[in-house]
Amino acid sequence: MKAKAKAHSNIALIKYWGKRSALLNLPAVGSISLTLDSLHTITTVEFIKNLKSDYLILNKKPADERETKRVSSFLNIIRRKADLSLHAEVNSINNFPTAAGLASSASAFAALALAASSAAGLDLSPGELSVLARRGSGSAARSVFGGFVEMKMGKKDDGSDALACQIAAKDYWDLRVLIAVTSQDKKKTGSTDGMTLSKDTSPYYQNWLKTSFDDLKEMRDAIKKRDFQKLGELSEYNCLKMHALALSSRPGLLYWNAVTVEVMRHIKFLRGQGCPVYFTIDAGPQVKAICQPEDVEKIANELEHIRGVQKVIHTSLGNGAELIGDNR
Ligand code: PMV
Repeated sequence: MKAKAKAHSNIALIKYWGKRSALLNLPAVGSISLTLDSLHTITTVEFIKNLKSDYLILNKKPADERETKRVSSFLNIIRRKADLSLHAEVNSINNFPTAAGLASSASAFAALALAASSAAGLDLSPGELSVLARRGSGSAARSVFGGFVEMKMGKKDDGSDALACQIAAKDYWDLRVLIAVTSQDKKKTGSTDGMTLSKDTSPYYQNWLKTSFDDLKEMRDAIKKRDFQKLGELSEYNCLKMHALALSSRPGLLYWNAVTVEVMRHIKFLRGQGCPVYFTIDAGPQVKAICQPEDVEKIANELEHIRGVQKVIHTSLGNGAELIGDNR
């Protein structure tokens, strides 16, 4: 009753921000993302007889109560499905900073969903796995798949149609992402609290929902045509729209720091010089520059020289979640 899985993080080009149901973690909008090869989580789950409670080790240290509770509630869903009463030992390692806008919850819950469901003896289809991963974190539903991925908001109350699917595999189009890390601090307002606040207080929320359909359609079209300029322009537009929503909440949510803004300005400057590069930013201070392979070296060098940028992580597109190693 043990399994080990690996899942990669992802970055949304069209963002998920807002829930139509908090209970089942149902998104109020669809989203489109790129799965990222260089950022991953590896998670081992073992259901053990006589274990008194679930035990979580996160990045080689015992997790705090809040994190353990979140994982335990997620395992409860699997225990119910598999008719299992055993507690589990969960060991999870990220190869990147946790909870700082690098989407650790996406790779974490995709890896946990796969490892825990197979350790419990459930044989889920990728779609079922995506529905399950969504219960842990909305963006995790996308990390089940590799390459270009779309998350459907779904219509049903039970959430069975709120799942991700692959638009195209990673080899379809060789895009690159350069992540400018500007801070490794844990963020103060998590995405769930941020989304609730925006839904309850931002005067722009209804328009965010209304305009999301066009953004999704246009992004699908940009991917279909491999139109880099369109993909980039839409990503920046949708990212700034999401942050406008966060900023217009009460109290306002400002996920950026001064270096974040400097990197955004520099990316615009580079574009003015004829270099095709666009940014997107999640609920955190890191800036993800989207570019093509031939421009990686130049852009990485530019970003590394911005004062306050701690490091630049280069990634190509990655695969979906997979079982690895010694599963018993
Ligand atoms: O998956 P969550 O609940 O951490 O929410 C993700 C929210 C954003 O990263 C800001 C946007 C997205 O679509 O990934």
